Amino acid sequence: LERTFIAIKPDGVQRGLIAEIIARFERKGYKLVAIKLVHPTKDFAEKHYDDLKARPFFNGLTDFLSSGPVVAMVWEGQGVIKYGRKMIGATAPLASEPGTIRGDFAIAVGRNIIHGSDGPETAKDEIALWFKPEELLTYKKETDKWLYE
Ligand code: GTP
Ligand code: MG
Repeated sequence: LERTFIAIKPDGVQRGLIAEIIARFERKGYKLVAIKLVHPTKDFAEKHYDDLKARPFFNGLTDFLSSGPVVAMVWEGQGVIKYGRKMIGATAPLASEPGTIRGDFAIAVGRNIIHGSDGPETAKDEIALWFKPEELLTYKKETDKWLYE
């Protein structure tokens, strides 16, 4: 089954949105297969956002991601990469639809509270960057049969 990397950024943690964000993925029916609280180093944040290193906001972005604890997670389920991004909303929160996480809880593009992998390759790379293979769990839930035909 498809898996994606989701992170609650330092602003989401500071603002007390951990439970709210986890609840949304849970209630959708997605399955949490890995989770930990981490304070990334600047170097690690640069690795995570490696594809953006030429952008003018790269230094601010990586300073921010490494500024405090982050909730790193892997969520599993049909369509979770693309649909997870839909639940997160557009990059700039004021362009995000109401009902999305960024639309409901954020204002500034540089304080948009959550990250989600943008495709299957990125998901694979980000999961491997943030987690050891043994930290990813495979398990059955009783609700699986009520979620999938
Ligand atoms: P992530 O899930 O965090 O990767 O966001 P995204 O995929 O919606 O956007 P992208 O990967 O293009 O950018 C990564 C992060 O850089 C965004 O979440 C923003 O916090 C930040 N960012 C992107 N574009 C801008 C910008 O134009 N200005 C500033 N200040 N920050 C930006
Ligand atoms: Mg991105």
